Amino acid sequence: MLNLQIPHATTVSALRARIKSWREDGLTVGFVPTMGSLHDGHLSLVRLAKAQSDRVVASIFVNPAQFAEGEDFDTYPRETLADAEKLANAQCDLIYLPERDVMYPDGFSTSIAMAGPAEGLESDIRPHFFSGVATVVAKLFNQVRPDIAVFGEKDYQQLLVIRQLVRDLDLPIDIIAGETARDRDGLALSSRNAYLSEIDRKRASALPQILKALAEALSAGGDLETTISEARSAAEAAFDGVDYLTVRDAASLAELKPGQLQQTGRILAAVRLGETRLIDNIAALPFKGPNPS
Ligand code: PAJ
Repeated sequence: MLNLQIPHATTVSALRARIKSWREDGLTVGFVPTMGSLHDGHLSLVRLAKAQSDRVVASIFVNPAQFAEGEDFDTYPRETLADAEKLANAQCDLIYLPERDVMYPDGFSTSIAMAGPAEGLESDIRPHFFSGVATVVAKLFNQVRPDIAVFGEKDYQQLLVIRQLVRDLDLPIDIIAGETARDRDGLALSSRNAYLSEIDRKRASALPQILKALAEALSAGGDLETTISEARSAAEAAFDGVDYLTVRDAASLAELKPGQLQQTGRILAAVRLGETRLIDNIAALPFKGPNPS
């Protein structure tokens, strides 16, 4: 039995019993799904959920279905006790900690396949990924049945995939986006940053710098192809590999027409530092023309 400083549930029935008593008191429920090893980015989502609902549930489940063979499922950091303390301090009301057989009992046979925003980018590198995410999130949504659920812009493609899932399956849940929390040097917080050596951690700050420079060049009227290709060269020089560095339509992730940025875009990138993959993204606003003066 875990001795945590905050109420927790490990089964669907225990989870539902807690939530039922809140519902009987007329309280609203916010939900923040995570894989644990929590940092200030996750906690900012909990605070956002708390600002918009009476009670907040956070789940911690390292979901095997979104890791492929050879990825870091076994070594993914697991720190439940420290996580529980952080969640208690962030005013979370309940932690849901399902075991693997609660989520995927023997004979489990369903998986959700998604197109639209799930296509390309992360899926080019991790083809199994969004199906694993959509399946587990649909299950978690059904188990918790929250009014709102909060997802980070840090995983921008995932955020759009979840919005699409909720639309397509008529799930009565408002999806709220939380801004990316960053370290002092601009690097987006990530549980996987723990894998970086001291030297690689320093190198990593080039990523937000390159994305910011690209956003500035685009909003100053720079040509898409030229500015992206300059940013890609900078990323190739700074990192051990560039999986993608691109600008897409911010709402659909559709490719953009060549020329100047005409609509609100999203710059998305994934790079490699040794064995570690970093992903990040920022908004890109179109050129508005010089101010009349
Ligand atoms: P995980 O990587 O633990 O992230 C949980 C949530 O925290 C996601 O919504 C993610 O976008 C958000 N997050 C991560 N880093 C952040 C940062 N620096 N600032 C703000 N938010 C941040 O994403 C997952 O888990 C899983 O795929 C999950 C949705 C739980 C399904 O298994």
